[in-house]
Amino acid sequence: MDTNIRTVETKPFDGQKPGTSGLRKKVEVFRQDHYVAQFIQAIFDAVRPQDGFAGRTLVLGGDGRFFNSTAIQIILKMAAASGLTRVMVGQGGLLSTPAASCVIRKHRAMGGIILSASHNPGGPEGDFGIKYNGGNGGPAPEKVTDAIFAASKKIDRYRILDVADIDLGRTGTVRLGPMSVEVIDPVADHAELMATLFDFAAIRDLFASGFTMRFDAMHAITGPYARRILEEMLGAPSGTVVNGEPLEDFGGGHPDPNPVWARTLHDEMMGPDGPDFGAASDGDGDRNLILGRGIFVTPSDSLAILAANAHRAPGYAKGLAGIARSMPTSRAADRVAEKRGMPLFETPTGWKFFGNLLDAGMATICGEESAGTGSDHVREKDGLWAVLLWLNILAVRREPVIDIVRAHWRDHGRHYYARHDYEEVDADAAADLMDALRARLDDLPGTTIEGLTIEAADDFSYHDPVDGSSAEHQGIRVFFEGGARLVFRLSGTGTAGATLRVYLERFEADPARHDETTADALAPLAAAARSLARIRERTGRDAPSVIT
Ligand code: G1P
Ligand code: ZN
Repeated sequence: MDTNIRTVETKPFDGQKPGTSGLRKKVEVFRQDHYVAQFIQAIFDAVRPQDGFAGRTLVLGGDGRFFNSTAIQIILKMAAASGLTRVMVGQGGLLSTPAASCVIRKHRAMGGIILSASHNPGGPEGDFGIKYNGGNGGPAPEKVTDAIFAASKKIDRYRILDVADIDLGRTGTVRLGPMSVEVIDPVADHAELMATLFDFAAIRDLFASGFTMRFDAMHAITGPYARRILEEMLGAPSGTVVNGEPLEDFGGGHPDPNPVWARTLHDEMMGPDGPDFGAASDGDGDRNLILGRGIFVTPSDSLAILAANAHRAPGYAKGLAGIARSMPTSRAADRVAEKRGMPLFETPTGWKFFGNLLDAGMATICGEESAGTGSDHVREKDGLWAVLLWLNILAVRREPVIDIVRAHWRDHGRHYYARHDYEEVDADAAADLMDALRARLDDLPGTTIEGLTIEAADDFSYHDPVDGSSAEHQGIRVFFEGGARLVFRLSGTGTAGATLRVYLERFEADPARHDETTADALAPLAAAARSLARIRERTGRDAPSVIT
């Protein structure tokens, strides 16, 4: 037994309950004495194999936000004290979420710990998060997060190695007591995987032909990945990647790749001289924003277009087993699945629900309206993967993004789509609003609101076709005559008050009516949402805080 192992006695904190995206809180919460250590001990207690950790590998890294390096050192010392044989950690403590998933799978690790609060702001006043992923590379399923929560409530000691911090600045292997720490290039494994899925030669030719692109890394984790893959491997001119330096506070920005937070990129793409293709990713690299000159491609449309064209990339040349989308995501992907005779799975919000479908080989491509798209190559959504699949399709089709999108609408119909978020509303008021809607579900069909007639309404529940588990109360769906739909749900990832999300979707088959602005096309539906849920009366808000 290593004499440097120290056992620290402690009292449990309340509320170390990991949600769909791990434990996500304000930085100041994580900075409390022993807070991180207790949660990490809870993870180790919950996932410790019967025969202990000997011989096992853990993957570790984060999005580089404030507190990343402090937490990494604590976790390394605790991993050594717990008896793990090896930890693979990204150089500088960095790993994007999809890259962590890739490294776990490739090196057959027992799991990984990912430090991130995704697209939430960083810095001392911002958010931080810790998430455990299992050996398939995906977010821990509920039974594991429940076990972690249960363990966190009982923690009365944790074990940590008493040693100096280790230098993560250089790749290579160092010893930490009984454990070896492999400091790895955070980009290499992921870049290598991308090269097996996509036709890099075709994409290189595309760039060589003068095709222009802007990738906004938002001072978050994808900077190093995008520079290596796009500029070094694919020959995009230097300067293609902007804001490529990961910063602890993301430069003060909100690393959420949507037209609101990636305003500069969005405006540049809307201008007449914008690049051919624009993209961005979020704090931890799992989300994506796709733009063409003069067009923002909604994540729901992007999922549908990627699914319809994936066979043009070598990794998907054999076609797709199926498509999965989260319930609030528009039904554009459903049209593709119908046309191609593929199964379409509708799951609750949150990437973890795709895991079983991917593991079982039932779905190949998945996506969410919140800008997450991915495939069975890893078990997380993957921002750069989506960008590279788009590039592969563009390299083959050699058409402007806007033409590809319009042709897709012509062939499948257009799903006008928007999400209205009411952020930081009073938690009780938000819960009451949902309860009131829930109580009226049976009375809604047949009623007319703001000129729109309701056909059906329910509270979405999901039955996992793989493991038979179910998830109830996943959001209120209201279906209107003519194919429009409203969805109401409360965010599970916010860290202050509650966030009410209202998802609006209207289907338009007629190409002559594909030129409306989204705001105009959805105005009647937006009015119906406000009046149906009595949003102003219940939340005091006249308008959403963010529309995406
Ligand atoms: C949000 C998104 C959801 C995504 C999750 C984690 O969750 O809506 O699609 O999976 O972040 O990135 P929400 O805050 O809506 O619960
Ligand atoms: Zn993210």
